[in-house]
Amino acid sequence: MTSGADHHVNFARALRRAIPRIDRHLPWTGHASPWAILVSEFMLQQTSVSRVRDAWQRFMERYPTPGECARAPQSAIIREWQGLGYPRRAVALHQTARIVTAQGGEVPRSLVDLMQLPGVGNYTARAIASFAYGERVGVLDTNVGRVLARAVMNQPLRPAAAQELADSFVTRGSSARWNQAMLDIGAQWCRSRPQCTTCPVRIACRWHIEGGEDPAVASAGVSRPQTRFEGSARQQRGRVLRRISEGGVTSAQLARITGVDSTRLEATLSGLMRDGLIVRRGSRFVLAD
Ligand code: ADE
Repeated sequence: MTSGADHHVNFARALRRAIPRIDRHLPWTGHASPWAILVSEFMLQQTSVSRVRDAWQRFMERYPTPGECARAPQSAIIREWQGLGYPRRAVALHQTARIVTAQGGEVPRSLVDLMQLPGVGNYTARAIASFAYGERVGVLDTNVGRVLARAVMNQPLRPAAAQELADSFVTRGSSARWNQAMLDIGAQWCRSRPQCTTCPVRIACRWHIEGGEDPAVASAGVSRPQTRFEGSARQQRGRVLRRISEGGVTSAQLARITGVDSTRLEATLSGLMRDGLIVRRGSRFVLAD
């Protein structure tokens, strides 16, 4: 039997050793530009790594600095966002680029300043502070939450306790490397359906050693099943926005092209206008500039 403190040390050592095997070599990992990190984190908020890779490369070629993004019309950023989903993030990213540019072009470093930016919540602020600046903060997403509940505590964790625990592992000088390793093990092995037989840190995993019910299942905020996309209002909204981004169209044309009935279409258009993605120009709907 080992004490809780020993578990922490064993787990930290095992995960550090596993880094060469678990590193996904993501194109933004270790990137020198805080803007590049910020863009990756906006994209990763609600989109999988596999879909973000290429979109991020393309975006960085077109908009390598906040200034270039800020000077582009918002409609260009919305078009660039196609395929990533949740396009309100594109509006927030564009606003963030404008604010950062107006403030001198440097992405802020402190959590407080980062959280003033549109689209930056607690998670994203921590990810930018760690990955761009090496600040000593823990990055906690659903994947990391599972790792902490299973491997470190073998008990369900409330969000505040999970955040405190995530922070406790981050040492000076290794913030980005550690947080990336936690994301990597969580996304590839410590998934909601865990892959324990091949997990490179199972010898230091408390759940693996002690057994019992899966503690991550009951952790607050740790398990969030994805809602179905096919046939959803979100899919319909995406279709309508894509059609509008190809050129101004009337609601009658939209109804014909997308096959959405007029009541739902009106609701979809109102939502897109409310979110600042489109505007009405005469009888047509166009992307908002
Ligand atoms: N999800 C959110 N941020 C991430 C990152 N930096 N690497 C991998 N997955 C992530």
